Amino acid sequence: MKKVFALIAAFIPAIASAAGANVHLDKHLTDLKDTASLQRGAQTYMNYCMGCHSLEHGRYNRVARDLGIPEDVMKENLIFADKAFGDLMTNAMSPDDGKKWFGATPPDLTLVARVRRPDWVYTYLRSFYEDPTRPYGVNNAVFKDVGMPHVLAGLQGLQVKGTAQVAVGFDTLTGQEITEEHEGVLYLAEAGSLTAEEYDKLVFDLVNFLVYMAEPIAVERERIGWWVLLFLAIFFVPVYMLNKEYWRDVK
Ligand code: HEC
Repeated sequence: MKKVFALIAAFIPAIASAAGANVHLDKHLTDLKDTASLQRGAQTYMNYCMGCHSLEHGRYNRVARDLGIPEDVMKENLIFADKAFGDLMTNAMSPDDGKKWFGATPPDLTLVARVRRPDWVYTYLRSFYEDPTRPYGVNNAVFKDVGMPHVLAGLQGLQVKGTAQVAVGFDTLTGQEITEEHEGVLYLAEAGSLTAEEYDKLVFDLVNFLVYMAEPIAVERERIGWWVLLFLAIFFVPVYMLNKEYWRDVK
Protein backbone atom coordinates (compact mmCIF):
# COMPACT_ATOMS: atom_id res chain seq x y z
CA MET A 1 0.00 0.00 0.00
CA LYS A 2 2.84 2.34 0.94
CA LYS A 3 4.38 1.75 -2.44
CA VAL A 4 1.20 2.79 -4.20
CA PHE A 5 1.06 6.05 -2.24
CA ALA A 6 4.73 6.72 -2.99
CA LEU A 7 4.02 6.20 -6.67
CA ILE A 8 1.05 8.55 -6.63
CA ALA A 9 3.04 11.16 -4.71
CA ALA A 10 5.86 10.89 -7.26
CA PHE A 11 3.44 11.80 -10.03
CA ILE A 12 1.81 14.79 -8.38
CA PRO A 13 4.55 17.35 -9.17
CA ALA A 14 4.65 16.07 -12.77
CA ILE A 15 0.92 16.65 -13.15
CA ALA A 16 1.19 20.10 -11.58
CA SER A 17 4.05 21.22 -13.79
CA ALA A 18 2.47 19.75 -16.93
CA ALA A 19 -0.47 22.04 -16.27
CA GLY A 20 1.91 24.97 -15.86
CA ALA A 21 0.77 25.59 -12.29
CA ASN A 22 3.00 28.60 -11.67
CA VAL A 23 2.01 30.63 -14.74
CA HIS A 24 -1.31 32.34 -15.19
CA LEU A 25 -3.12 30.80 -18.17
CA ASP A 26 -5.90 32.55 -20.05
CA LYS A 27 -9.03 30.51 -20.51
CA HIS A 28 -9.84 29.09 -23.94
CA LEU A 29 -13.61 28.73 -24.25
CA THR A 30 -13.45 25.92 -26.78
CA ASP A 31 -16.43 25.68 -29.13
CA LEU A 32 -16.25 22.68 -31.45
CA LYS A 33 -19.69 23.41 -32.91
CA ASP A 34 -18.46 26.69 -34.41
CA THR A 35 -17.53 25.29 -37.82
CA ALA A 36 -16.53 28.68 -39.25
CA SER A 37 -14.03 29.10 -36.42
CA LEU A 38 -12.60 25.62 -37.06
CA GLN A 39 -12.26 26.41 -40.78
CA ARG A 40 -10.42 29.66 -40.05
CA GLY A 41 -8.20 27.80 -37.57
CA ALA A 42 -7.36 25.16 -40.17
CA GLN A 43 -6.46 27.86 -42.68
CA THR A 44 -4.15 29.65 -40.23
CA TYR A 45 -2.57 26.34 -39.27
CA MET A 46 -1.86 25.33 -42.87
CA ASN A 47 -0.38 28.74 -43.66
CA TYR A 48 1.71 29.37 -40.56
CA CYS A 49 2.41 26.09 -38.75
CA MET A 50 2.35 23.11 -41.12
CA GLY A 51 5.82 23.82 -42.53
CA CYS A 52 7.35 22.92 -39.17
CA HIS A 53 4.65 20.96 -37.30
CA SER A 54 2.95 17.95 -38.91
CA LEU A 55 -0.48 16.62 -37.89
CA GLU A 56 0.52 13.10 -38.78
CA HIS A 57 -2.41 11.29 -37.14
CA GLY A 58 -4.93 13.16 -39.27
CA ARG A 59 -5.91 12.96 -42.92
CA TYR A 60 -6.84 15.86 -45.18
CA ASN A 61 -10.06 14.24 -46.41
CA ARG A 62 -11.29 13.60 -42.86
CA VAL A 63 -10.64 17.23 -41.87
CA ALA A 64 -12.40 18.45 -45.03
CA ARG A 65 -15.43 16.26 -44.31
CA ASP A 66 -15.69 17.14 -40.61
CA LEU A 67 -15.25 20.88 -41.16
CA GLY A 68 -17.51 21.04 -44.21
CA ILE A 69 -14.75 22.17 -46.58
CA PRO A 70 -15.45 21.21 -50.23
CA GLU A 71 -12.82 18.91 -51.75
CA ASP A 72 -11.68 21.39 -54.43
CA VAL A 73 -11.37 24.27 -51.94
CA MET A 74 -9.36 22.04 -49.61
CA LYS A 75 -7.05 20.87 -52.41
CA GLU A 76 -6.52 24.33 -53.80
CA ASN A 77 -6.01 26.29 -50.59
CA LEU A 78 -5.11 24.00 -47.73
CA ILE A 79 -3.08 21.14 -49.16
CA PHE A 80 0.44 22.10 -50.09
CA ALA A 81 3.29 20.29 -51.79
CA ASP A 82 2.47 17.09 -53.64
CA LYS A 83 0.03 15.68 -51.11
CA ALA A 84 -3.11 13.79 -52.13
CA PHE A 85 -6.59 14.34 -50.63
CA GLY A 86 -6.49 11.09 -48.65
CA ASP A 87 -2.93 11.48 -47.32
CA LEU A 88 -1.80 11.77 -43.73
CA MET A 89 -0.94 15.36 -42.82
CA THR A 90 2.82 15.03 -42.68
CA ASN A 91 5.39 17.62 -43.75
CA ALA A 92 8.77 17.57 -45.40
CA MET A 93 10.92 18.62 -42.44
CA SER A 94 13.25 15.92 -41.14
CA PRO A 95 13.66 15.72 -37.35
CA ASP A 96 17.44 16.20 -37.71
CA ASP A 97 17.06 19.41 -39.71
CA GLY A 98 14.53 20.71 -37.21
CA LYS A 99 16.94 20.08 -34.37
CA LYS A 100 19.80 21.74 -36.23
CA TRP A 101 17.79 24.84 -37.12
CA PHE A 102 15.82 25.41 -33.93
CA GLY A 103 17.73 23.50 -31.23
CA ALA A 104 14.69 21.25 -30.83
CA THR A 105 12.63 19.28 -33.34
CA PRO A 106 9.22 20.93 -33.85
CA PRO A 107 6.90 18.26 -32.39
CA ASP A 108 3.87 16.84 -34.16
CA LEU A 109 0.84 18.80 -32.91
CA THR A 110 -2.02 16.33 -33.52
CA LEU A 111 -2.44 15.74 -29.78
CA VAL A 112 -0.96 18.92 -28.36
CA ALA A 113 -4.32 20.29 -27.17
CA ARG A 114 -4.79 17.16 -25.07
CA VAL A 115 -1.22 16.92 -23.79
CA ARG A 116 -0.79 20.61 -22.94
CA ARG A 117 -4.49 21.55 -22.61
CA PRO A 118 -6.20 24.29 -24.69
CA ASP A 119 -5.61 27.06 -22.11
CA TRP A 120 -1.88 26.47 -22.24
CA VAL A 121 -1.67 26.52 -26.07
CA TYR A 122 -3.90 29.62 -26.20
CA THR A 123 -1.68 31.47 -23.73
CA TYR A 124 1.55 30.20 -25.26
CA LEU A 125 0.76 31.55 -28.73
CA ARG A 126 0.05 34.99 -27.22
CA SER A 127 3.08 35.10 -24.92
CA PHE A 128 6.10 35.58 -27.16
CA TYR A 129 8.23 38.59 -26.24
CA GLU A 130 11.41 40.21 -27.40
CA ASP A 131 14.60 38.72 -25.93
CA PRO A 132 17.82 39.58 -27.79
CA THR A 133 19.73 36.81 -25.97
CA ARG A 134 17.74 34.11 -27.81
CA PRO A 135 18.73 32.84 -31.30
CA TYR A 136 15.51 34.11 -32.92
CA GLY A 137 15.24 37.22 -30.75
CA VAL A 138 12.16 36.01 -28.82
CA ASN A 139 11.36 34.13 -25.64
CA ASN A 140 8.04 32.91 -24.28
CA ALA A 141 6.40 33.57 -20.93
CA VAL A 142 4.89 30.08 -20.58
CA PHE A 143 7.67 28.11 -22.34
CA LYS A 144 11.01 29.47 -21.21
CA ASP A 145 13.78 29.50 -23.83
CA VAL A 146 11.55 27.97 -26.47
CA GLY A 147 13.20 27.07 -29.78
CA MET A 148 10.25 28.25 -31.86
CA PRO A 149 10.52 31.64 -33.60
CA HIS A 150 7.52 33.98 -33.22
CA VAL A 151 6.00 33.04 -36.57
CA LEU A 152 2.89 35.17 -35.97
CA ALA A 153 4.86 38.35 -35.15
CA GLY A 154 3.74 39.98 -38.40
CA LEU A 155 0.14 39.68 -37.19
CA GLN A 156 0.52 40.26 -33.46
CA GLY A 157 3.46 42.66 -33.49
CA LEU A 158 6.23 42.37 -30.94
CA GLN A 159 5.68 42.33 -27.19
CA VAL A 160 8.30 43.28 -24.64
CA LYS A 161 8.50 42.27 -21.01
CA GLY A 162 8.77 45.12 -18.57
CA THR A 163 7.06 47.36 -16.10
CA ALA A 164 3.65 48.59 -17.10
CA GLN A 165 0.46 50.06 -15.69
CA VAL A 166 -2.07 47.28 -15.26
CA ALA A 167 -5.80 47.87 -14.75
CA VAL A 168 -6.83 46.36 -11.41
CA GLY A 169 -10.38 47.62 -11.09
CA PHE A 170 -12.67 50.66 -11.11
CA ASP A 171 -13.16 53.45 -8.64
CA THR A 172 -16.79 53.01 -7.62
CA LEU A 173 -17.23 56.74 -7.02
CA THR A 174 -15.73 58.26 -10.13
CA GLY A 175 -15.98 55.26 -12.44
CA GLN A 176 -12.36 55.73 -13.36
CA GLU A 177 -9.98 52.85 -13.92
CA ILE A 178 -7.51 52.11 -11.13
CA THR A 179 -4.10 51.07 -12.35
CA GLU A 180 -1.06 49.69 -10.59
CA GLU A 181 2.51 49.39 -11.72
CA HIS A 182 3.39 45.71 -12.27
CA GLU A 183 6.71 44.17 -13.20
CA GLY A 184 7.25 41.37 -15.73
CA VAL A 185 4.19 42.32 -17.78
CA LEU A 186 4.03 41.70 -21.53
CA TYR A 187 2.93 44.68 -23.56
CA LEU A 188 2.93 45.51 -27.23
CA ALA A 189 5.90 47.63 -28.27
CA GLU A 190 5.53 47.30 -32.02
CA ALA A 191 2.14 46.90 -33.67
CA GLY A 192 1.39 44.06 -36.09
CA SER A 193 -1.16 43.99 -38.88
CA LEU A 194 -3.95 42.89 -36.49
CA THR A 195 -5.37 44.62 -33.42
CA ALA A 196 -5.03 42.84 -30.07
CA GLU A 197 -8.65 41.62 -30.27
CA GLU A 198 -8.25 40.37 -33.83
CA TYR A 199 -5.07 38.53 -32.87
CA ASP A 200 -6.72 36.89 -29.85
CA LYS A 201 -9.56 35.80 -32.12
CA LEU A 202 -7.15 34.32 -34.66
CA VAL A 203 -5.37 32.36 -31.92
CA PHE A 204 -8.73 31.33 -30.45
CA ASP A 205 -9.73 29.82 -33.82
CA LEU A 206 -6.32 28.17 -34.20
CA VAL A 207 -6.56 26.49 -30.78
CA ASN A 208 -10.18 25.53 -31.49
CA PHE A 209 -8.90 23.71 -34.58
CA LEU A 210 -6.14 22.00 -32.56
CA VAL A 211 -8.70 20.80 -29.99
CA TYR A 212 -10.76 19.35 -32.86
CA MET A 213 -7.59 17.72 -34.28
CA ALA A 214 -6.79 16.07 -30.95
CA GLU A 215 -10.20 14.40 -30.87
CA PRO A 216 -12.07 14.62 -34.19
CA ILE A 217 -14.86 12.40 -32.88
CA ALA A 218 -15.72 14.68 -29.90
CA VAL A 219 -18.78 16.39 -31.43
CA GLU A 220 -20.09 13.14 -32.91
CA ARG A 221 -19.59 11.38 -29.58
CA GLU A 222 -21.64 13.96 -27.76
CA ARG A 223 -24.40 13.71 -30.36
CA ILE A 224 -24.50 9.90 -30.08
CA GLY A 225 -24.46 10.26 -26.28
CA TRP A 226 -27.78 12.14 -26.34
CA TRP A 227 -29.38 9.42 -28.48
CA VAL A 228 -28.12 6.77 -26.05
CA LEU A 229 -29.62 8.66 -23.10
CA LEU A 230 -32.89 9.04 -24.99
CA PHE A 231 -32.90 5.32 -25.79
CA LEU A 232 -32.29 4.45 -22.13
CA ALA A 233 -35.09 6.76 -21.03
CA ILE A 234 -37.59 5.12 -23.41
CA PHE A 235 -36.29 1.61 -22.73
CA PHE A 236 -36.83 2.19 -19.02
CA VAL A 237 -40.64 2.18 -19.47
CA PRO A 238 -41.10 -1.41 -20.82
CA VAL A 239 -38.38 -2.69 -18.48
CA TYR A 240 -40.17 -1.17 -15.52
CA MET A 241 -43.50 -2.64 -16.60
CA LEU A 242 -41.97 -6.03 -17.29
CA ASN A 243 -40.36 -6.02 -13.87
CA LYS A 244 -43.72 -5.31 -12.28
CA GLU A 245 -45.36 -8.10 -14.27
CA TYR A 246 -42.72 -10.70 -13.28
CA TRP A 247 -43.01 -9.95 -9.58
CA ARG A 248 -46.78 -9.67 -9.49
CA ASP A 249 -47.42 -13.31 -8.44
CA VAL A 250 -44.36 -13.66 -6.25
CA LYS A 251 -45.29 -10.91 -3.81
C1 HEC B 1 9.85 27.71 -38.09
C2 HEC B 1 9.35 26.51 -37.47
C3 HEC B 1 8.09 26.60 -36.66
C4 HEC B 1 6.88 27.11 -37.05
C5 HEC B 1 6.50 27.68 -38.40
C6 HEC B 1 5.98 26.90 -35.93
N1 HEC B 1 6.63 26.32 -34.89
FE1 HEC B 1 5.82 25.74 -33.14
N2 HEC B 1 7.61 25.01 -32.52
C7 HEC B 1 8.77 25.03 -33.27
C8 HEC B 1 9.83 24.41 -32.48
C9 HEC B 1 11.27 24.24 -32.94
C10 HEC B 1 9.25 24.00 -31.27
C11 HEC B 1 9.92 23.24 -30.13
C12 HEC B 1 10.43 24.21 -29.16
C13 HEC B 1 11.26 23.64 -28.06
O1 HEC B 1 11.07 22.46 -27.65
O2 HEC B 1 12.09 24.40 -27.58
C14 HEC B 1 7.86 24.41 -31.31
C15 HEC B 1 6.95 24.21 -30.29
C16 HEC B 1 5.60 24.45 -30.37
C17 HEC B 1 4.62 24.13 -29.34
C18 HEC B 1 4.92 23.48 -28.00
C19 HEC B 1 4.86 22.01 -28.19
C20 HEC B 1 5.13 21.27 -26.93
O3 HEC B 1 4.20 20.67 -26.40
O4 HEC B 1 6.28 21.29 -26.47
C21 HEC B 1 3.41 24.51 -29.81
C22 HEC B 1 2.06 24.38 -29.11
C23 HEC B 1 3.63 25.09 -31.11
N3 HEC B 1 4.95 25.04 -31.41
C24 HEC B 1 2.60 25.60 -31.89
C25 HEC B 1 2.80 26.17 -33.13
C26 HEC B 1 1.74 26.75 -33.92
C27 HEC B 1 0.26 26.75 -33.55
C28 HEC B 1 2.31 27.25 -35.04
C29 HEC B 1 1.64 28.02 -36.15
C30 HEC B 1 1.09 29.29 -35.78
C31 HEC B 1 3.74 26.97 -34.96
N4 HEC B 1 4.00 26.33 -33.78
C32 HEC B 1 4.65 27.29 -35.96
C33 HEC B 1 8.93 25.54 -34.53
C34 HEC B 1 7.94 26.11 -35.29
